[in-house]
Amino acid sequence: MTNSPKGKFITVEGIEGVGKSTNIESMRYFLDDKNIECIVTREPGGTDLGEDIRELLLGHKHGAMSSDCELLLMFASRAQHLAQVIAPAIEKGQWVICDRFTDATYAYQGGGRGIADKHIALLEKWVHGDRQPDLTFLLDTDVATGMARVHKRGAADRFESEAAAFFERVRNKYLERATSKPSRITVVDAGQALSQVKADIRQRLNEFVAHTQL
Ligand code: TMP
Repeated sequence: MTNSPKGKFITVEGIEGVGKSTNIESMRYFLDDKNIECIVTREPGGTDLGEDIRELLLGHKHGAMSSDCELLLMFASRAQHLAQVIAPAIEKGQWVICDRFTDATYAYQGGGRGIADKHIALLEKWVHGDRQPDLTFLLDTDVATGMARVHKRGAADRFESEAAAFFERVRNKYLERATSKPSRITVVDAGQALSQVKADIRQRLNEFVAHTQL
């Protein structure tokens, strides 16, 4: 008996307002078109338990949440998500597109809140072992553009309420990670017209799919 191939794990990252949702939808259509079965999920969240944790993290009920509590809740949600959704899907051969994953923790809790990378790395190793995304898109635009898009959406959540300086640190950390992991992380200029952003993503995805099917 031959084992069916495992699915691939794709993540999408970026500061607020870079257009992750729209582009994830177009990635899903692209994979559907190639007859690749895929699921779309998100972090924090992606399971019933994780969505409850998301409410704690994004809501304003616990405004004075400590950075360590925030970090641990992110990984608590991730542990459940990996066990219940991501790992089983990949084992079944489905591709997983995840709106944010551990790069976001390095960017937000590391860059934004100032938690040392070595603490995040400990939890990363514990919670996901050697599992890493196969491909990551970092949608990048300047903070002012991202924030302007967010403020059109209505009430700001706990993260969206942070000052521009926080998002500058988050963005810098994302870019730093992209530089240190160029084969996994593709930076896409999200400040371009949406049609061009989609075209750039499609091109990289096409290369990735072709390489996978070799
Ligand atoms: P979003 O998915 O709607 O963008 O919102 C999720 C928020 O959670 C966003 O502000 C980024 C933040 N976040 C972290 O701070 N650390 C993490 O590890 C993840 C996954 C998200």
